[in-house]
Amino acid sequence: MLDDAYGNPVATLSVQARDAYDLGVSKFLGAELGVSDAFETAINADESFALAYIGLARNLQLLGQPDRVMSCLRKSRDLASSLSARERSHIEASTLLLEGNAPAARAAVYKHVEEWPADVMIAQMCTSVFGLIGFSGLPGREAEQLAFISRLSPYYGDNWWFRTQLAFAQIEVGQLASAQENIEIAMNANPRSAHTAHIRAHLYYENMEDKEGLNYLSNWCKDYDPSATLYNHIYWHVGLWSLETGDIDRMWQVLDINISPEQSQGPPLNVLTDAASLLFRAELAGLKVPVERWKKLSAYSLARFPNPGLGFADLHAAITHSRSGNRDALEALIHSNNGPVSDLTKTLATGYKEMEDENWAMAAKQFCHAMRDHARIGGSKAQRDLIDYSLASCLVRDGRQQEARTLLSITRPRAITKEVVAGL
Ligand SMILES: [Fe+2]
Repeated sequence: MLDDAYGNPVATLSVQARDAYDLGVSKFLGAELGVSDAFETAINADESFALAYIGLARNLQLLGQPDRVMSCLRKSRDLASSLSARERSHIEASTLLLEGNAPAARAAVYKHVEEWPADVMIAQMCTSVFGLIGFSGLPGREAEQLAFISRLSPYYGDNWWFRTQLAFAQIEVGQLASAQENIEIAMNANPRSAHTAHIRAHLYYENMEDKEGLNYLSNWCKDYDPSATLYNHIYWHVGLWSLETGDIDRMWQVLDINISPEQSQGPPLNVLTDAASLLFRAELAGLKVPVERWKKLSAYSLARFPNPGLGFADLHAAITHSRSGNRDALEALIHSNNGPVSDLTKTLATGYKEMEDENWAMAAKQFCHAMRDHARIGGSKAQRDLIDYSLASCLVRDGRQQEARTLLSITRPRAITKEVVAGL
């Protein structure tokens, strides 16, 4: 038996397989290019290396390739009987995640990390704003996110992945000074990690250092390959800062080249939410968006997310359906009872329907209701600014500018320092 890079014994005698597995894990955690290649190299070196199949399956799930995910899962389960308790538990928790049973997967991760806290691929499932806590739909999930990652501190120390995820959890609850320290440690340890560069971008955003953030991220992503998993979302940040700093040409360039659904190789969840979000924030800021763009995005959301239930996708799909005039699809979201945040999806989708019908006061009422705890829907504060700005825009259009300014000065002070909501 050999140990992986985090000190966990793995069931392979091949150093080449173990090293390739470690590389796959590191690239997965940093959203670097070549994750699948690394896990496939591990499998080629040792066809009975069960966790390498799981690593590959995790990456394929991100890329939206369910058939290949299931094939990898079957392979790993066929090998499970001869494995250690840690590896069997690793496969079980991963299976729950990959088969879409999120509440059971979350419970399995909590149990697993109690015994094997340094099993990083399992701990990772409950981190970040798209993870099992982020998408749990539970009230207080941002605090729980920070609590979960903080409990791992004794086992990870200055590890770059840990410091990155700790920083993200801290940013989302406003602990910006601590986040700064952690992100510096992480970036020094692994400057190639796209997740680390991404979280540093969030720190710039929350600190209202928009030009600095745009410069930083533009430089960082010059060498980032378009087929790497975080490329789409990194460019969402670039596009958003381009909009907010007045470089509108560059914003369209990002939409048409870097994050366009026709060209993007990113995870479908990012492709939908990043494009819809940037287009709608452009509209909220007063730009005109041709309806054809919305129709294409509405069709994309129906193709990639045909069944409502993932609230963060549904929120953005509701905007695309509303703006494109696809009323049937919008009504389907409003009346869906699937998923842990269907109540919130209903409220928000109704808000966008009222907004489309120019019933500004009715729309504002819906968005106000969602403001109580829109963190439940998942995503980062930067992404959910969309909701705050939607409410502010409806208030402005209802003739209630002062109310809109007061609201944003409390919830998102960054918004009143620039022209992100037209008429504010
Ligand atoms: Fe982000």
